[in-house]
Amino acid sequence: MTTGKTRKVLLLPGDGIGPEVMKPVAGLLAEMAARKLLSLEVREALIGGAAYDKTGHPLPPETVSLARESDAVLLAAVGGPRYDTLPYEHRPERALLGIREKLGAFANLRPARLFPQLANASTLKPEVIAGLDLLVVRELTGGIYFGAPRGIVTENGIRVGINTERYSEPEIERIARVAFTVARNRRRKVTSVDKANVLESSVLWREVVTRVGRDFPEVSLDHMYVDNAAMQLVRNPGQFDVIVTGNIFGDILSDEASQLTGSIGMLASASVGGRTGLYEPIHGSAPDIAGKDIANPSAMFLSLAMLLDHSLGEAGLARTLEQSVETVLGEGIRTRDIAEPGSRVVGCREMGEKISRVFWDLLEKGSAAK
Ligand code: IPM
Ligand code: MG
Repeated sequence: MTTGKTRKVLLLPGDGIGPEVMKPVAGLLAEMAARKLLSLEVREALIGGAAYDKTGHPLPPETVSLARESDAVLLAAVGGPRYDTLPYEHRPERALLGIREKLGAFANLRPARLFPQLANASTLKPEVIAGLDLLVVRELTGGIYFGAPRGIVTENGIRVGINTERYSEPEIERIARVAFTVARNRRRKVTSVDKANVLESSVLWREVVTRVGRDFPEVSLDHMYVDNAAMQLVRNPGQFDVIVTGNIFGDILSDEASQLTGSIGMLASASVGGRTGLYEPIHGSAPDIAGKDIANPSAMFLSLAMLLDHSLGEAGLARTLEQSVETVLGEGIRTRDIAEPGSRVVGCREMGEKISRVFWDLLEKGSAAK
């Protein structure tokens, strides 16, 4: 039954496979509202190349204000080859950085968990990835992505590209707090990743994370240089529980971590810290397979699960949705990217229908059991 006030969710389908993977998830949300499972107001807006084509801007002001007045934003993917030659300010990626910044979503949570049903999908040996369950906590609104000065300048007739890695104490402190807080409900281990043997920004990072760690005596903390962390992730990923790191290291390590689980098409992320949470699959817009009904919508459903959990306080529904994805995998129903010998390969639309149907079945069973 519907409880509490109406919650506002904004959908941003974006580009490439974005609209395809969003469709079944939007359908499920609409059904949740229609069946009065939740009191929801769902809206949709433009972002990325799709927004640029219609309005001349990849992040129209209307999208920003709709996002700001929502409780949560669900974003599919942005970008495509058609936009690669646009000036930086007009590129779809700029919209992604812009919305993260405008929502103050400084903490990016990227879980990499191995679905046992997909143990053979990874390129790593099954014994290396068995039981893999780690979380990358990536700082998302600072570091070299946003630091000034930046740009391409000409000095004495020579062109120079400039970016600046910078982190202030409060920026480090707040991301460290998020990492230790989530670690408390996991295996209580934080690994902070930096390059403190070379970079001053990392020296400060290490110092502040260590200090924050003292407020969480039940959580263990160790530090690792980023080059070693990249190696350890493929050597022995089971040693990690929560990895906390800056923006660019987190970008790189979270892609690496995703591949441990077999398919980037399975992983969701949450960007939190502001009033409105932003949820997105970690995969991109995959223009090469767009419009062919072969994309995997699982990460989009799992992003909705993170949204239900973190922004709407519906942990129970989140678990049921995750379980629905697992059940469908367990039935051997797969999109092409995670197909195995003997599995039944379906398209994006059918995979979405299956996951939604199992969700309602599980809910019915759950309430019958009560
Ligand atoms: C990601 C992406 C983005 C990033 C790009 C598309 C701007 O790689 O979400 O990891 O670097 O943050
Ligand atoms: Mg990335």
